[in-house]
Amino acid sequence: MSFQIPRGTQDILPEQAAKWQYIEQIARELCRRYNYQEIRTPIFEHTELFLRGVGDTTDIVQKEMYTFEDRGGRSLTLRPEGTAAVVRSFVENKMYGYPNQPVKLYYMGPMFRYERPQAGRFRQFVQFGVEALGSNDPAIDAEVIALAMDIYRSLGLKKLKLVINSLGDVESRKAHRQALIDHFQPRIHEFCDDCQARLHKNPMRILDCKKDRDHELMRTAPSILDYLNEQSRTYFEKVQMYLQKLGIAFEVDPRLVRGLDYYNHTAFEIMSEAEGFGAITTLCGGGRYNGLVQEIGGPETPGIGFALSIERLLAALEAEGISLPISEGIDCYVVALGEQAKEEAVALVAALRQEGIAAEKDYQDRKVKAQLKAADRLHAAYVAILGEDELQKGVINVKHMATGEQQEVPLDIFVSHMKNVLQ
Ligand code: HAM
Repeated sequence: MSFQIPRGTQDILPEQAAKWQYIEQIARELCRRYNYQEIRTPIFEHTELFLRGVGDTTDIVQKEMYTFEDRGGRSLTLRPEGTAAVVRSFVENKMYGYPNQPVKLYYMGPMFRYERPQAGRFRQFVQFGVEALGSNDPAIDAEVIALAMDIYRSLGLKKLKLVINSLGDVESRKAHRQALIDHFQPRIHEFCDDCQARLHKNPMRILDCKKDRDHELMRTAPSILDYLNEQSRTYFEKVQMYLQKLGIAFEVDPRLVRGLDYYNHTAFEIMSEAEGFGAITTLCGGGRYNGLVQEIGGPETPGIGFALSIERLLAALEAEGISLPISEGIDCYVVALGEQAKEEAVALVAALRQEGIAAEKDYQDRKVKAQLKAADRLHAAYVAILGEDELQKGVINVKHMATGEQQEVPLDIFVSHMKNVLQ
């Protein structure tokens, strides 16, 4: 019997994992500069949290959650996204009382959605996301967007498109909602079952329907931007002004609605415009969610954030032909000839490692030639050869692979010599 990996999941093999680590490191470093701190929440939460947080009319809640009952009869769900959980923790740990506001958090970890797998869409994927809670300043909206763009740009991506929209405040949405119902109602029977069900529950979601996207009523649907009240319009204008100040190019798309219920005011997505990128071009999505903290049982607190998946980021890098500057090789391979040299090599490799040097030796009882080949395969910067002659003279033969230069180094200063040359 042989086993296969579950559909929609993937193994990250060592070569790929190095890329992941590099990306994670860039994201963490940028969070440090922007002053966002890491939060780690559980991989599963009470199902109710997502019903409330994400919204029970969304695709995520209706079709995509991995929900199970534990042995105590509780309904738990593998997190489909990070925001609801971060907000739950924010409320539970009373972070609204922290002296430093807004509370700026980031997270990185696996999310789970039962979706139809295709290029760029997995059932387990890793999101990197940030949430800034406690500020109603449009400058923080611009900051959050800038951070997302900075991550992509630091990795070398150029073919990016930032699309923004405003979903307005409660009052604006109410007016827009009625306009949408009036618009779609007379011909709603021409739409899919999901859209029919959404008409009264959440008509804005109709605009995001993949099945009915080409229906003529979609093109003529009332735009949220025409329904923004004074306050919402001013807010949106300020966000745009700040983006311009930061030199970030963007497009306004009044049809950008996002797939989660908690958004209001600013909504945004970053797409890849690279040729050869798959059908799903959204790399990153986010927005403002001013009612969510209250919905989850906390005091009225504004919030904004985004999430991006590392999987789609990697696909975008590939589509733009960008290879990450990953150091592939080890520092030193110790080749040993003869029984005594082999024993000595064990200690030498250990001593190198103690000093922070990436070192390797042979464990397959290989001949010298094969050991040299192994060193080559590992892209060793230096190869140190210890034969019987060298051992007797108390030296080791160190070869710099890039230049071919060789040097006999006394064994007792070998480690400090290696430290010097590798600096
Ligand atoms: P979302 O748009 O559902 O938003 O997901 C954000 C990002 O996660 C997407 O743009 C995409 O990069 C990635 N993603 C989503 N589903 C998949 C999948 N099946 N396979 C691979 N990647 C995927 C959220 O999750 C919100 N929590 C974002 C947010 C944070 N809004 C405010 N704060």
